[in-house]
Formats: sequence, C-alpha cells, structure tokens
Amino acid sequence: MRTVPTLLVTASAALLALASHAGATDSALQAKMGEPLHGLTTVQRDRFQIGRTLFSMPIPIEDGLGPIMNKSNCGSCHSNPIGGWGAISVTRFGIEKKGVFSLYPGESQSLAQSLANSSFCAEVVPADATVVRTRLTNSSMAFGLVEAIPDVQIAAHADELDVDGDGVSGRVHWVRPLEAAPTSPLRAGRFGWKAQVATVLTFSSDASRNEMGFTNRLTPDENPPNGDFARSAVCDAVSDPEDTNDADGFAFIDRVTHFQRYLAPPPQTPRSGMTGETLFNQVGCVKCHSASFTTSSDALLENAIRSQSIRPYSDFLLHDVGLIADGISDGDATEAEMRTPTLWGVRTRDPMLHDGSAAGGSFTARVTLAIAKHGPYGEGAASSAAFALLSPSNQAHLVKFLNSLGRAEFDFDGDGIIDILDFFALRVCIAQGTTNADNECAIADVNQDGSVNATDVDLFVLAFNGDILDCNNNSVADLRDIALGTSQDANDDGVPDECMACPADVSGDGTVNGVDLSIVLANWAGSGAGDIDHDGIVNGADLAVVLAGWGLCQ
Ligand code: HEC
Ligand code: HEC
Repeated sequence: MRTVPTLLVTASAALLALASHAGATDSALQAKMGEPLHGLTTVQRDRFQIGRTLFSMPIPIEDGLGPIMNKSNCGSCHSNPIGGWGAISVTRFGIEKKGVFSLYPGESQSLAQSLANSSFCAEVVPADATVVRTRLTNSSMAFGLVEAIPDVQIAAHADELDVDGDGVSGRVHWVRPLEAAPTSPLRAGRFGWKAQVATVLTFSSDASRNEMGFTNRLTPDENPPNGDFARSAVCDAVSDPEDTNDADGFAFIDRVTHFQRYLAPPPQTPRSGMTGETLFNQVGCVKCHSASFTTSSDALLENAIRSQSIRPYSDFLLHDVGLIADGISDGDATEAEMRTPTLWGVRTRDPMLHDGSAAGGSFTARVTLAIAKHGPYGEGAASSAAFALLSPSNQAHLVKFLNSLGRAEFDFDGDGIIDILDFFALRVCIAQGTTNADNECAIADVNQDGSVNATDVDLFVLAFNGDILDCNNNSVADLRDIALGTSQDANDDGVPDECMACPADVSGDGTVNGVDLSIVLANWAGSGAGDIDHDGIVNGADLAVVLAGWGLCQ
C-alpha cells in the first residue's frame, strides 16, 4: 500500500515554499516553460503544485516500485523543465520479418525496462531481438490544452491518400483511452512518438506501470520481466493495484495528470511577424508543424483550458519519416510513421528527434541536422530540400524563428532568467528607438508597437527575477528610473547614482583616490564618466567633489 499521507505532507510543504511563484505577471506576460497556465483558480494551482512535487518524488520499493522499471519517478526523465522533455532515452525491441515488426515471443510490449528490484528479476533484451531502438523522452507541454484540441481539428489536417499530391499525407491515429468505456468512440491520438495515446490520464497510467512498475486502477497488472510472471511475484510483494487514493480521493496517476494538464504552453517571443516564419510556411514546414488550434468550448473544461487559441506547431498526425523510421509498429501506427512533434519550446531541446540523433553543438547545428534528416524518402523530403536551397541569410532567418519558440519576453541571453544582463540589453534597445520582429530588440517589444518604451519597461519590472528596489524613495522602481533616464547609472550597476554612498568613487572600488582623479582629468571638458553631478560636462565642480571626498568611502 502506498503511504500517501506522508507524501502529501511533504507535498504541502513544497507547496508553501512555491506559493509566491508567478502571480503578478499573470496575463500581461507569457508564462515561462514549466510554469502553470495563466488563469487557474487557487484550487487548480494547488493541484498543479502537489502534482508537480509527486511527479519528481521517487516511489519506494515498499510502495510498489518495480519489479522492473526504467526509473523511480517521472521527473528523472521529463526534466527539462520538470514535466517537459529530457535527454534520457528508453529502449524498445522486437522482431522484424520482411519489414513487419512483431513483439518478441512471450513479451506483451516492446518497451525494455533497464532496472529491477533485484538481479533475479532483471529484464534483458534478448540477443536475437532483430529490432533494438532507442526512443527519447518527449513532451508536448501544455498537456491540458493539447488534450482539449477537438478531434475534428486534428482530422481536418489529415490527407491520408495525399489527394492534393504534395507528397505530404498525414494520418490520424485513432485510439481508445484506457479510462473510456470499451464501446466509446475512438479519439484522435496525440501523445507519444506514435500518437498512440489521446489523453493525459491514459499516458500517466501507462507510464506509471511501464516506466516505474507502479500498477494503478487503469493498468492493474504488473509488467513481468521478459514475460515471466513467476519471477515478478518474487520481486514485488505489494498487492496490485499499488496506486491507491489519498484522503482527497486522488490516486498518484490523477495527481501527476493534474500537474501535466495545468502546464502552460511555452512562450514565443516575438509573438508574430518574423521573416523566418514566412519562410517556414513557404518551404512547407507548416504542412506538418501546423501553427494554430483552438481548444474545445466544452463547458466541462476549466476556464484556463476552454476555447484557448494555441500555437503548438504540430498537426499531431502520423507521417512516413523515411530513412529515420524506427521500424516499430504501435497500434495503427506503422513501422515507418512518427507523429509530428510540437515545436513550441524547441529552442531548449537537446537532443532532438525520436532517436536523439540531432544532439549537441549549437542550436543552429541541431535544428539544421534535424531538418536534413526529414529527407530523403520521408514525407518531409520536399520541405527539407527547399530549406537546403534557401540562401544562407534566409536559412538563418528560419532558424532564428525556431529560436523564438520557447524564449521568454526580455530574455535576451536566453538563459531563462530575467536579470541585470537582460536589463542592460533593454537599455540599449530603448536608446535604439524603432524595432521590428526580426530585430534583436523585438525580445523586449512586448506589445509589438515598434519601439521599446515605457510600457515595455513596466512589464520588464514585472518580469525581473530579482528584488525590485526603490532606493531613492520616489515610488518608482529604480530599474524604471534608470531605463527611462529619470536617474543616472554612470557605473552600470543597476543602482541609481544618487543612491550611491560615495558619488566621488567614480571607479567604484570603494575608495576615492588617484584613480577617480585621473578619470575626471582624462574626461576633462567632456561628458560621461567623471561627470559626477550630471550637468553634462566634466569640470571643476566634479573635481571639487572628488577632492572633498578623498579617502575611504563611508
Ligand atoms: C525512463 C524515462 C521515463 C520515465 C521515468 C517517464 N517517462 Fe514519460 N516518456 C518517456 C519517453 C521515452 C516517452 C516517449 C514515449 C514513446 O512515445 O515512445 C515519454 C512520453 C510521455 C508522455 C507523452 C508526451 C507527449 O506529449 O507525447 C507523457 C504524458 C508522459 N511520458 C508522462 C509520464 C509520467 C506521468 C511519468 C511518471 C508516471 C513518466 N512519463 C515517466 C520517458 C519516461
Ligand atoms: C511531412 C511532415 C513534416 C514536415 C513537412 C516537416 N516536419 Fe519537422 N518533423 C516531422 C516529424 C514526423 C518529426 C519527428 C521525426 C522523428 O523524430 O523521427 C519532425 C521533427 C522535427 C524537428 C525535431 C523536433 C524534436 O522535438 O525532436 C524539428 C526541429 C523540425 N521537425 C523542424 C522542421 C522544419 C524547420 C521543417 C521545414 C523545413 C519541417 N520540420 C518539416 C514532420 C515534418
């Protein structure tokens, strides 16, 4: 039996620690990768946090982990960010005959489990398995929104017989969720590399049982090592299903489903207008990486999920991928087919592709390799070739567009944190005047009005991942004072000069000495450094301040 009360106590503690996270920025700015959806209720936010904690909490063997598994918790694979994709691959194996895949005799699935509760139960990939492939941890992110795309919208992009003759077909993988009645209509699959799953709960159940050996109400039976039930009974004594409800009536699979459903879509900055996106459309990437969908208007859905317009850049359909196909069939998906991955957030993905074969190096190198691997022979061949024929500067435009997918507003250096370095870049952009979607400064022109100005500065202050200070007590954030010129910041430390204890310390080394004197003399009659009183000229008044302050700063 799982010790849920203990887990929940820990979960609530973590919840409190995170309680102050992202609130003020709701709606004005896009959520960052890994953050909750905007517009959740307090109850939903709490569920997001508890689910997030459990997602990364190892399941102990006494609670039901194993007998065989790949990891002890979801977050160890879905780690970039928590709930997202990751660099860990799993192995799938089976038998190939005349191009047709079948499960290895005696096996009930193609997934291998690399760990076991004891060596007696270890699963091995049989030496005579003729298909052994790796598959990378993927993630659509924003699972609730993706789940809420109506089947008809996905089916509308399909062109199974390639009626328009453009070489791109695309098929819906119709599947039945584990939680649905056996006679219920099939749903358009959208999760997994083979679009083999339609709902988040089904994937949570499947992953709990198959990646962690944690059986639950939807997949109640253990997956035995190499099909051998006698061994699994010895190595896992916990009675099935191992996942039981907590005091609130939720099982583990429900909790991690809450978290994944409430994950926000990755940001896109600038939001529109890049030349690279026009090229992306022109060379045909958009035929599979479809830009936009609108989620269902179903009254039963949460407000934050209902009728939302989203831009995942995927059609969630199966396509023949040619040479990089993995040769494994899954339900209705053939050996040659893969589902188009979402591209939102692609800038943080390393490795890429189902087998992780576009890995390492720069972002440009990775995506260029991934695009090259769309052809020859696959449905992506024509667009891959068209990309190769673009001029170097147009290729750079297209890659720059891909690099906007996942970038947070104001995150000039792309490290996911809005800090003082981004502030300095913001200042340069304010000075620059006009901007457009292709310009570096578009990262800070949040309202896309063509210039980085006071409105954007206010949003920057909201987005800033640090303390917002008002050292000159004018009821305006110091960063705003500096950005808009109300205060000077001669030494570029993000602190208004009037707040510095020692204005004569021009060099900022803590002492007023010959170094400061020489700066004043070197710029004599000019402006800039040494203009301590900010009257526009370095002169006797500034020299007097240095001489009066000579010695250690107080
Ligand atoms: C050992 C690594 C590993 C662990 C542990 C793991 N996953 Fe995954 N996850 C994967 C891989 C690999 C895929 C791609 C599966 C496929 O389609 O073959 C995946 C796919 C998924 C997807 C579909 C993503 C998409 O958008 O297509 C979901 C949802 C998911 N996992 C949820 C979970 C949950 C919930 C847990 C914990 C109960 C979990 N995973 C544990 C590796 C892992
Ligand atoms: C015929 C449909 C199709 C077209 C057209 C297409 N793609 Fe893809 N794309 C896919 C599929 C399917 C995959 C997954 C392939 C795999 O991993 O086996 C993919 C993978 C990718 C990836 C790797 C993403 C990841 O998470 O691993 C990138 C990047 C990408 N495509 C960009 C592009 C660009 C840019 C273009 C246009 C030059 C393009 N694609 C055209 C279907 C397509």
